Amino acid sequence: MASSSAFLLLALSLLALHFCCCHGKGGGDDGNGVTAIYSLGDSITDTGNLVKEAPPGMFETIKHLPYGVTLGTPTGRCSDGLLMIDFLAEDLGLPFLNPYLGKNKSFDHGVNFAVAGATAMDPSDQFNLTVPMPFASNSLKVQLRWFKDFLKSSFDTDEGNSSLLFFFQLPTFLALNTDHSKPFRVSAEIRKKLQSSLVLVGEIGGNDYNYAFFENKAVAEVEKLIPGVIKTIIDAAKEVLAMGASRVIIPGNFPIGCVPGYLAMNAASSEPADYDSAGCLRELNHFAAKHNTRLQSAVSELQASHRNASVAYADYYNSFLTLLHNASSLGFDAASTRKACCGAGGGEYNFEWQRMCGFAGATACEEPSTYLSWDGIHMTQAAYRAMSRLIYHGKYLQPQILSFPEKYGQT
Ligand SMILES: *[C@@H]1O[C@H](CO)[C@@H](O)[C@H](O)[C@H]1NC(C)=O
Ligand SMILES: *[C@@H]1O[C@H](CO)[C@@H](O)[C@H](O)[C@H]1NC(C)=O
Ligand SMILES: *[C@@H]1O[C@H](CO)[C@@H](O)[C@H](O)[C@H]1NC(C)=O
Ligand SMILES: *[C@@H]1O[C@H](CO)[C@@H](O)[C@H](O)[C@H]1NC(C)=O
Ligand SMILES: *[C@@H]1O[C@H](CO)[C@@H](O)[C@H](O)[C@H]1NC(C)=O
Repeated sequence: MASSSAFLLLALSLLALHFCCCHGKGGGDDGNGVTAIYSLGDSITDTGNLVKEAPPGMFETIKHLPYGVTLGTPTGRCSDGLLMIDFLAEDLGLPFLNPYLGKNKSFDHGVNFAVAGATAMDPSDQFNLTVPMPFASNSLKVQLRWFKDFLKSSFDTDEGNSSLLFFFQLPTFLALNTDHSKPFRVSAEIRKKLQSSLVLVGEIGGNDYNYAFFENKAVAEVEKLIPGVIKTIIDAAKEVLAMGASRVIIPGNFPIGCVPGYLAMNAASSEPADYDSAGCLRELNHFAAKHNTRLQSAVSELQASHRNASVAYADYYNSFLTLLHNASSLGFDAASTRKACCGAGGGEYNFEWQRMCGFAGATACEEPSTYLSWDGIHMTQAAYRAMSRLIYHGKYLQPQILSFPEKYGQT
C-alpha cells in the first residue's frame, strides 16, 4: 500500500505535464539587454527545486538515471537533459538558471522558482481533491513570495520611496508577506534590476487541470477551472509588472491530447473519431486551446494596460504541433512522436502508469534525441531545444520581444 501511494504521488507530480556563457560582468548584453531571467512555473521549467524539497523516498525517480541520462547525471529536471528554459538562457548569453531552493548557488543572472507539480491556483481554491498532494502546494502565490523574498534579501529595499505596491496592491501584499517585520518595498534598485530582466510567468496551470483529469473529472467539469487559472496567472503577471519588470512572457498550454500519458489513459475508452489526423485526442486539444484562447485575450488586455512594458504570449500549442508535423525534417523519428522514450509496455505509446520511467520494468530508448516525449509526460532535451528555438526565435513568441546574439536557424 505504501508503495502504491508513493507511486500515486509521483504520478501526480509527473503528470504535471505542464507541468527551465554570460560574457562577463553585466552579461547577456548583446542587444537584448536581458541580464537576468526569473522564472515561475512547473515541471516544464523546474531545474531542481522539487528534488531539493522532496524528502528521501519521495520523487526518487527524477533523482536518478535515466533522468538526466543525456547529461550523464540527474539534475532534478524532468527530462533526459536540458529544458526550454536552459536553451533560452544559453541563447541569451546567460548561464543556466539555478533553482531557488538550491542553496549556495549563484543567482546573479536569475533564479528559477518553478517547481515540478506546481499548480497556478492554491490547492484550497480548487476542487477538494481526495488525493494528498504535498508537493503540489508550490502554487504561483508561493513562488511569487519566494521571488519577493529573494529580491528583499538580495537588493537594497530601503532606498527611495517606491511604495507603489503598498498603494495599489495592499491586499496581495498582505497575503504574500508572512514576514511582516521586513515589508517588501519596490526600491529603485529592485526596479532597476527588473528593468533589465526577463520574467517568465509559466507555463503554469497545466497541473491544475491534470490533477482534475486524473480524478476522472469530465472535461466540462474541468473547464470550470479555466477562468480561475487564467486570473491567477494574469494577477501574478500584474504583480511582477508593478514591481517594474519590463519584459514578461506568459506561455500557454501544450496540446495535451498529443501527450502519450493522456493517450494511454484514454486508449481503452476512445473511438477512432476521437482522434485527429495527427493521432491526438481532439477533446483534450480542444480543452487546451480553450485555455489558450482565454489566456491570449487576457494577455492582450495586459499589453493594452501596460504599454510601458513588453508583454508576450508564448504559443506552446502551435509550436508543438509544428514540431509534431515536421518531426522527421527536424531530426525526430516520425513513427515515435506519440511514444515515450522511457517507459514500458511498448505499443503505440510505450506508457503504463504503473511502470513509468524510473520504476522497475521501465526502460529508456537508445536514442532519446529521436523522440519528442521523454517519459510520456515531459519532453526530451532534443524536443525542448527545438521548441525553445521555434518559440523564442520565431513567430510563436507574440510579439517577438527578444533579440539574440546569434540566430539558430529558425526565423
Ligand atoms: C558554498 O560555496 C562555496 C564556494 O563554492 C564553498 O566554499 C562552500 O563550502 C559552500 N557552502 C556550503 C554550505 O555548501
Ligand atoms: C471545499 O470544501 C470546503 C469544505 O467542505 C468547501 O467550503 C469549499 O467550497 C470546497 N471548495 C470547492 C472548490 O469545492
Ligand atoms: C522619501 O520620502 C520622505 C518623506 O516623504 C522624504 O523626506 C525623503 O526625502 C524621501 N527619500 C527619497 C530617497 O526620495
Ligand atoms: C509601468 O507602469 C505601471 C503603472 O501603470 C507601473 O506599475 C510599472 O512599474 C511600470 N513599469 C515600468 C517598467 O516602468
Ligand atoms: C512544417 O511543415 C509544413 C508542411 O507540412 C511546412 O509548411 C512548414 O514550413 C514546416 N515548418 C518547419 C518549421 O519546418
